[in-house]
Amino acid sequence: MHNSIPVIAIDGPSASGKGTVAELVAAQLGFHYLDSGALYRIVALAAKQQNIDWDDALAIAKCAKTLDIQFKDGQVMLNGNDISDAIRTEEMGKGASRVAVHAPLRAALLDLQHSFCKAPGLVADGRDMGTVIFPNAPLKVFLTAATEVRAQRRYQQLLNKKQSGSNSQISYADILLDLQERDARDKGRASAPLIMAKDAILLETDHLSIAQAVDHVLQNYQSFTNLSA
Ligand code: DC
Repeated sequence: MHNSIPVIAIDGPSASGKGTVAELVAAQLGFHYLDSGALYRIVALAAKQQNIDWDDALAIAKCAKTLDIQFKDGQVMLNGNDISDAIRTEEMGKGASRVAVHAPLRAALLDLQHSFCKAPGLVADGRDMGTVIFPNAPLKVFLTAATEVRAQRRYQQLLNKKQSGSNSQISYADILLDLQERDARDKGRASAPLIMAKDAILLETDHLSIAQAVDHVLQNYQSFTNLSA
């Protein structure tokens, strides 16, 4: 890893908006972007395709090491197949959170995550970007919102998807329960749990638009670059 390359680490719970914010910040700065949650989703999908139990730590880590993962023009490719939509389901969100508890899998994904750190800089989003993967990141943001606000956002996203053709049944109560379960698993695991890094800035987005959250991160980054100039 190159310490001279600036990294903005954006961590937070599911449906906090961090993915959208991170992608927009990366686009504004012309930086690379790492969606680390996608990696855990890909592993959950690959394990399902190969009938590997999500609770089998060693088999999951072994499976991850065999995967050819590519991110190309907003598409996620696994072994040459476009799996961008297949990993975005609620099932794979839950599967990702299940496989992510395994320390051997987290170790297997370390080098791949570090390989995204290239000039001119990187915006990385996930649960442990600022605590474990890029602990020297000059700017760390912990982006969050109340569970009910996040559940409402996720519910709206799924309703929008339904309008554009998906026919799965959606209930706000199920989504809320699912988020609560996922938060508890991500925060409670022994390996790289979701916690705010000591030197992170807290950004609560309950009453912020995406554009306001992006501005906030960019302003903080600007202050950092002015200070270090
Ligand atoms: O950000 P996301 O919703 O796509 O992440 C899906 C799951 O992957 C999340 O519930 C926990 C896991 N994850 C993780 O453990 N560490 C990361 N850096 C990113 C995601």
